[in-house]
Amino acid sequence: MKTLLLKGEVFSGKGEGAEFTKLPWVRKQIKEKLGFTPYLGTLNIRLTERSVILKNLLKNAQGIEITPAEGFHRGVCFKAYLMGLECAVVIPEVQDYPENTLEVVAPTKLREHLKLKDGSIIEIKVLLEK
Ligand code: CDP
Repeated sequence: MKTLLLKGEVFSGKGEGAEFTKLPWVRKQIKEKLGFTPYLGTLNIRLTERSVILKNLLKNAQGIEITPAEGFHRGVCFKAYLMGLECAVVIPEVQDYPENTLEVVAPTKLREHLKLKDGSIIEIKVLLEK
């Protein structure tokens, strides 16, 4: 299994991840395609410069597509492991989306389970095959 190891720092966003993971079509597809019901929200990671370059490789990999409801953007997910916990990274196909940001969805609250705070340095293993 090919994997990509991305490194970065946890940061707080503006609650947009919670809005996204609340949407019924998002919840349904994450359950069906990734196999878990997402905790409400996304954990935001600010990637290191090197990891931004690595993240760009995901553009050529076959991700798991989240098909949008009308008026929304498409997103591509990859299964991943954060300190051994199953999760997924979500890459929204939104114009001007910051390239050094990575958003992670998971069945549980990662901040609690992994004792993460803003500024915590993490490594996430992204699986390049479905
Ligand atoms: O406010 P922000 O945009 O950073 O976060 P959110 O997407 O609204 O998510 C709510 C909170 O849960 C934030 O503190 C996230 O970092 C956290 N979270 C988590 O710990 N584990 C997840 N699987 C999802 C979100």
